[in-house]
Formats: sequence, structure tokens, C-alpha cells
Amino acid sequence: MVELDPIAEFREDHRKVRDGLLGLADALESKNIGKAGEILGELNNLLGPHFRFEEEALYPALRRFLGEYVDELLKEHDGAIEAAKELARLIGKGEIGDDEAKEAASKTRALLVHVSNCDGLAILAERLDAAEIQNLGRKFAEIRDEGIPLLDWAEKIRKKGS
Ligand SMILES: [Fe+2]
Repeated sequence: MVELDPIAEFREDHRKVRDGLLGLADALESKNIGKAGEILGELNNLLGPHFRFEEEALYPALRRFLGEYVDELLKEHDGAIEAAKELARLIGKGEIGDDEAKEAASKTRALLVHVSNCDGLAILAERLDAAEIQNLGRKFAEIRDEGIPLLDWAEKIRKKGS
């Protein structure tokens, strides 16, 4: 198994998600459904392992610093998963109206708040001990190897309250 720096990888994911969400919002606003579908597909693939790593490994490890705030982060994930499902449905229709496009773009931009909240966790994760960080790295690599997309994971594997 390749050694992986979980904090660096986690932050790099956030940059990709940030850029993906901004691109997706623009594509929706200009009603470029093909582009929107392409970006949503990329985000689905990236966010499956990312959310899973957070919920199965990182968030539980951070509970000692954050206590119940971890539950808020899980709720934010609920919202993001719902938004992804709605967007997939909308894009799947093949054409969208002006108002739908605007609303979907603003819902997409609203998800940026979670990206920024989540990236802030890096400052706390740095205080986990070296063995724990190494363990997180192994877990992240395993989860990435499995590579289950967000909506599949949410439907088939995800359990709340981890
Ligand atoms: Fe995250």
C-alpha cells in the first residue's frame, strides 16, 4: 500500500471540489447540461471516497477536539448528498428552464461553505499523533482503492452517526 499524507490529500481534494462546484454552478447557469453532467460525474467519483474517509475515519478521530460539532458536519454531508441527487435528477432530464438553472447554480454555490468548513479541520487534524495520522493515511488509501462514487456509497454503505 502506498504511503499517503492524509491531510495533504484531503486538502487537495477540497481544492478540486471547490473548482468543480464553481465550474458546475457556471455550467448550470449557462444551461450547459453536457458540461454540468460531466463535472457532476467527476465530483461524484471524487467525493465518494472523500466523504467516506471523513465519516469512517477522520471525523471520529476529531471528535475529541470537536465533540458534537462532528454531528453538524455529518448533517452538512446529508445536505450535500441530497443536493447531488437533486442535481443528478435535474441534469438527467436533459434540459432545464431558466429559473431551475439559476436555483440549481445557487444551491451548488451554497455547498462551498461546507468545503471551506471541512478544510478548516486540517488545523486540528495536524494535532493527532503521528501513528494516528499514519493510520488515517492507510484508511484513505484503502477507501480510494475501493473508489465507490458518492451516490452509490450513500445508497448502499453509508451509516449515519459514525
Ligand atoms: Fe472534506
